Amino acid sequence: MQNAQARSILVVEDSRLQRAILRRTLVEAGYAVTEASDGVDALAALRGAPFELVISDVEMPNMDGCELCQAVRGDPALAGIPVMLVTVLASPRDLVRGIMAEADTYITKPYKPDALLSRVDALLGTRHERVGEGATCTVSFAGESYEVPADPQYTLNFLLATYENVVDQNHELDLLNHQKNQFLGMAAHDMRNPLFVIEQFSALLTGGMLGEVVAEQAKLIDRIRANSEFMLRLVDELLDITKIESGTLQLDMQPSDMVEFVQRNLALNRVVAEAKNITLAFDPPSDLAPIEMDAGKMEQVLNNLLSNAIKYSHPGTRVDVLVAFSEGHVRLSVRDEGQGIPADEQAELFTPFQQTSVQATEGEKSTGLGLAISKRIVSGHRGRIWVESEVGTGSTFHVELPVS
Ligand SMILES: Nc1ncnc2c1ncn2[C@@H]1O[C@H](COP(=O)(O)OP(=O)(O)OP(=O)(O)O)[C@@H](O)[C@H]1O
Ligand SMILES: [Mg+2]
Repeated sequence: MQNAQARSILVVEDSRLQRAILRRTLVEAGYAVTEASDGVDALAALRGAPFELVISDVEMPNMDGCELCQAVRGDPALAGIPVMLVTVLASPRDLVRGIMAEADTYITKPYKPDALLSRVDALLGTRHERVGEGATCTVSFAGESYEVPADPQYTLNFLLATYENVVDQNHELDLLNHQKNQFLGMAAHDMRNPLFVIEQFSALLTGGMLGEVVAEQAKLIDRIRANSEFMLRLVDELLDITKIESGTLQLDMQPSDMVEFVQRNLALNRVVAEAKNITLAFDPPSDLAPIEMDAGKMEQVLNNLLSNAIKYSHPGTRVDVLVAFSEGHVRLSVRDEGQGIPADEQAELFTPFQQTSVQATEGEKSTGLGLAISKRIVSGHRGRIWVESEVGTGSTFHVELPVS
């Protein structure tokens, strides 16, 4: 940077610590820094010596950052000095306040030193020039109308600052999301073993292998076992979803016989279906070539579709599985004669923990993760999953996989 030594910046900040941090960042980059602790203080400094840039906090006693900025713009001797606001930007209103005050740009706290310096550099290169003195225009934002200065230069600066912020924050959110997935994965993993112990020991107790258990006790132990089984399943689903979201889901693609695959899954669900007097039907197509898929993961998908069809249907109904080929795809469908899903709730079906107003018909447990996991597994196969459903008639869930 040329002549960085000569470039003087006024830092306006009521917090001593924040001021010290700002000063250090700027001084280390070669700028000359003067400090002021509020707007009034800052105006006095600005009238006493020349400055090339003002960096001001927004929230301050006496005169805040926006008021200071307005005062700078209102004073012909100071009006050209670029102003950068430092804000926590708690609401869109803060952004509009900055624009109305004619600040050139802003940066949100907490900021990275590099981001601050690159914005300082950009601002020092573009002196604030007012086009159309005093001209304003009306903008609608967050449900309200505002009269803002019609100066394209700093509107553009503000927009670019917002863009920069969003990119930074997205990056930050990605990082946090990754950490959250890691944490969730570890927590779910660590809960698995103790839960398994509870489930196994309660099974041992009800089995009577450790001495006689009276009926009342057996009932309670059975509840412990059933609940720990449910929690184990939930923990497994959480592990699945975190694995998938952190991008560590690995598919073991193998040629698989679709008919045999469906029949195996039907067998797994038959006991539960029979207990509800629901008929599971499958009419296998002839001469079906093997499909490339991860049969273990796809089993989770089909199992969830079958268990949903059974869970959300009334006794005495029927569930059909259909397999058909169409233009380079194989389509697997599970059709039920259940309650159907209201049209306005269908869009959210594949979102984690999303349950619709449709309840299980016999109080079966649900966590709202099955379809979210299914969707991610199907996407991993480069396929798609969707539903056709009508309240009172039933639902058909389709899964389409490419045939390579
Ligand atoms: N065949 C269906 N008929 C009617 N509603 C359904 C059907 N399948 C799913 N739903 C609705 O969609 C919601 C989400 O299903 P999903 O499989 O993701 O979760 P779940 O069955 O509630 O729990 P989990 O599968 O994690 O045990 C269900 O809670 C239910 O309201
Ligand atoms: Mg389910």
